[in-house]
Amino acid sequence: MISRRLLIKNTAAAASLIALPVTWSAVALAQQKLPRRPIAGGGDALPVIGLGNSNAFRQNDVPGSTALIKLFHGHGGAYIDCSGESRFVVAGVASSLGVGNELFLGTYFSNEDEPAMRENVQRLLEITGKKQLDLVHSYPEFAEPNWDMFLKWKDEGLTKYIGVARHAERFYGSMMKMMETGTVDFLQVNYSPLETAADQQVLPMALDKGVAVTINRPFINGEYFSRVRGHELPGWAADFDCDSWAQFSLKFILSNPAVTCVLTETANPKHALDNIGAGFGRLPDAATRQRMVQYLQDL
Ligand SMILES: NC(=O)c1ccc[n+]([C@@H]2O[C@H](COP(=O)([O-])OP(=O)(O)OC[C@H]3O[C@@H](n4cnc5c(N)ncnc54)[C@H](OP(=O)(O)O)[C@@H]3O)[C@@H](O)[C@H]2O)c1
Repeated sequence: MISRRLLIKNTAAAASLIALPVTWSAVALAQQKLPRRPIAGGGDALPVIGLGNSNAFRQNDVPGSTALIKLFHGHGGAYIDCSGESRFVVAGVASSLGVGNELFLGTYFSNEDEPAMRENVQRLLEITGKKQLDLVHSYPEFAEPNWDMFLKWKDEGLTKYIGVARHAERFYGSMMKMMETGTVDFLQVNYSPLETAADQQVLPMALDKGVAVTINRPFINGEYFSRVRGHELPGWAADFDCDSWAQFSLKFILSNPAVTCVLTETANPKHALDNIGAGFGRLPDAATRQRMVQYLQDL
């Protein structure tokens, strides 16, 4: 890993050559892979920025998905969150890029019957060349039929991790009950500077119980950008190496110690690069986190 001082020196040199503003994260991005955080109890580590279930995957846009996955993997990205048919698009593209085995795939099941779900997992393994799936999620409302089956799949080695995933506060109670059982490896919840409820109970509980955490809705499915549009980033965002409004939210999320990886949904490679940039540089401290929430509320 190269030192920040060297990066800044290189930045200055590069900037004088190409006469363009070069930021800390842009330089770090060009030279380093995304930092990783350990998955508690699993012996693995995940890059801090993940990819959500992009429209490119959902629309079976193979060139778009290829550009996205290539860029993401090239910067050290691994976690891709996908469900339904789009998981096969991701698997197919990853396989044709020769990185099927290197990605960390998280997928979902709701209330199909077991043979149909198994067939889906087997198909994913065949396409990617993986020996076992990385992560299967249940929505909490389907945990009753799914969870025993997931535990069995984990025993058999069909999946390495099992998790529970939802995107709204009304599900936190049932997700916490599931974490009480001590069998949840991954929790996925919504969290951002405009949706902070998870930091009251559900994230502290995950941290306490050693459950890995992925975050959904970092941009409230795009609504965040409508709120900040037309507003300048505050000057103090530079104190934590933040170059954009997207990074403002992502760095807030990553500065919560319970968070392992944040899932960012985009079909636009420029946006993906911006989001990846949030994985580098400093993060806001506790006082700055409060200031960030207040700043957004006052816009
Ligand atoms: N388990 C669950 O119940 C659940 C529920 C919701 C979500 N999720 C997961 O979480 C992922 C993310 O959550 P989300 O769906 O709410 O999406 P999100 O990541 O909060 O927001 C996506 C929106 O932000 C835009 N965007 C992304 N990066 C940007 C950037 N750097 N600059 C400007 N615009 C940007 C995207 O547009 P462009 O495409 O134009 O960039 C898109 O409109 C999902 O994809 C899914 O995998 C899970």
